[in-house]
Amino acid sequence: MGNKLIGYGSYLPERIMTNADFERVMDTTDEWIVSRTGIHQRHFAAADETVADMATNAARAALENAHIGIDDIDMIIVATTTPELDFPSVAVQVMGRLGATQNIPAFDVRGACTGFIYALHCARGFFTAGIHERIMIIGAEKMSRFVDMDDRSTAVLFGDGAGALIFERSTSSYSGIIDTVVMSDGKKFDMLHGSPDHKIIMNGPETYKMAVSLMPDAARYIMDHAGITQDDIDWIIPHQANIRIIQSCAARLGFPLDKILITVDKHANTSGASGALALAYAFDNGIIKHGQLILYPAFGSGLTWGATLIRV
Ligand SMILES: CC(C)(COP(=O)(O)OP(=O)(O)OC[C@H]1O[C@@H](n2cnc3c(N)ncnc32)[C@H](O)[C@@H]1OP(=O)(O)O)[C@@H](O)C(=O)NCCC(=O)NCCS
Repeated sequence: MGNKLIGYGSYLPERIMTNADFERVMDTTDEWIVSRTGIHQRHFAAADETVADMATNAARAALENAHIGIDDIDMIIVATTTPELDFPSVAVQVMGRLGATQNIPAFDVRGACTGFIYALHCARGFFTAGIHERIMIIGAEKMSRFVDMDDRSTAVLFGDGAGALIFERSTSSYSGIIDTVVMSDGKKFDMLHGSPDHKIIMNGPETYKMAVSLMPDAARYIMDHAGITQDDIDWIIPHQANIRIIQSCAARLGFPLDKILITVDKHANTSGASGALALAYAFDNGIIKHGQLILYPAFGSGLTWGATLIRV
């Protein structure tokens, strides 16, 4: 029992925060940020704009793209680590705002920057079990809520936004979410985590080292697991944390850079929203075409890491 992608959507807050904007409020430069991260700008949500607002906007766009209504969906999974409310989930808020009349399951997963893959992993399981018809996966984050303007080494790295994908059950096992692998190592909690007062605590160089080792490992593992080679892959859309991490992963895997999609320059690191946002960007700009095979590896706080293969 397989699945196929039938719609996508995204939402980015109106406010763009450029590197020049950071230069005005902290001891940093555009040159430092671009050379270390590849980031030129990021979107920051308005003070009263919530993760549920952004998730709902992306979900609405995905429903329109798929030409279906919310009652055609029978499960909503939201990947987010930055919800304003401890309960209920962002997923039920989205469902309510979109006016769902069916009492479908809706829940959040917290996988930090790997959250998108954790959500896809759940969806793949439900499709394989044959118990759901159409599942909406949303990645939505308000990272700016955690940005500490007194810490220049993390403040410049993150952005806000949301992306949504809709998958439908199908008989083909060669379309949609083809495979997922997710892993975690709780012993590495200290490397990157949030604090109770909503700050990002990160050992940058250690995080960098783990990312450039674990993302290629996950990519190799999933290709072996799915029985495919690099030649079968049309695009790598990696988690968008840092261009140097992405380039290093590509080099370790031996992938040419022209097969790698980059959005970190425009969106910065949007954590669990990164994958769905990048896919939506690639569709909107005619970069990826229906039928192509995408490899998406990711890495994040936890530590968590993994990869997914999606035929779009
Ligand atoms: C954060 C990161 C860009 C820092 O780059 P780096 O080359 O490792 O830089 P370092 O941490 O060694 O710091 C080098 C210097 O730059 C300074 N610096 C840090 N942030 C700065 C900024 N925004 N502007 C200017 N200087 C800055 C540091 O204070 C340090 O100065 P010092 O040598 O005088 O102490 C890099 O470690 C990284 O990308 N890590 C992974 C982060 C990530 O992607 N996390 C999310 C994973 S999902």
